[in-house]
Amino acid sequence: MRNVPILLAAAVVASSPHANAQEPSDGASLLAGNGCAVCHGADGSGTAVGPSIAASDLSLPDFIASVRQPMRTMPAYDSQVMPDEDLTRLFAYLEAQTTEASAAGRTDVGAELYYDYGCYSCHANEAQGGMHGPRLGPDPITHARFAWYVRHPTRTMPPYSPVVVSDQDIADIYAFVEAQPEPPPLDSIPLLAP
Ligand code: HEC
Ligand code: HEC
Repeated sequence: MRNVPILLAAAVVASSPHANAQEPSDGASLLAGNGCAVCHGADGSGTAVGPSIAASDLSLPDFIASVRQPMRTMPAYDSQVMPDEDLTRLFAYLEAQTTEASAAGRTDVGAELYYDYGCYSCHANEAQGGMHGPRLGPDPITHARFAWYVRHPTRTMPPYSPVVVSDQDIADIYAFVEAQPEPPPLDSIPLLAP
């Protein structure tokens, strides 16, 4: 599976009319010329195969780290393929994009939805993860990536369409996940202490 997006990206880089764009400072041509647009859209606002990266809540170092060491299905780009300077210019372009402001999440509503939609059955009552799903919080992935994953899971999780779970519902669930208590440090649990 991992090869598919890499081949796709390589094919786009090779065939893109923007590959040798005269305007390297133009964010849209950096997105197209490096194949990012295939998955993240021509303006970075996301597609079925990649989350929105426009006006994200990532810092520049986290943005660069996400491109160098992607989390799941995205191919990695090293500094030979895409230098830090290009990523810095692209980041400035993306941060200047206006996206629909994501709705403010309500923790208490999110707690109910997290239960009603059955998220708890795989991700456990406090989103700490269990046998059937990973930990979601505290310190979740970005809101953009979280929302995209719920719509387009790439592995075993079932997808939730906007008809079932609205964007507002996702914002509320995200607020609930973010508000979960930090797990206790391992050395405070006698059985696990060294
Ligand atoms: C083949 C599809 C694909 C291509 C090509 C691609 N990405 Fe991604 N990207 C993804 C997916 C899917 C994710 C979500 C995390 C994962 O699965 O690795 C992601 C995550 C990210 C994130 C983290 C977003 C967040 O909110 O945490 C950034 C930043 C990013 N991509 C930037 C880029 C840039 C810049 C390029 C081009 C240089 C690029 N991506 C090319 C699919 C792609
Ligand atoms: C049937 C079990 C199941 C249910 C129900 C479920 N998930 Fe998942 N979820 C998973 C599994 C397993 C993964 C790990 C990736 C995969 O296999 O898709 C995952 C991954 C995720 C991720 C990505 C985490 C990451 O680090 O990339 C998010 C976000 C998420 N789930 C949110 C939710 C929300 C919100 C709900 C309820 C609306 C939900 N899940 C319901 C099993 C489930």
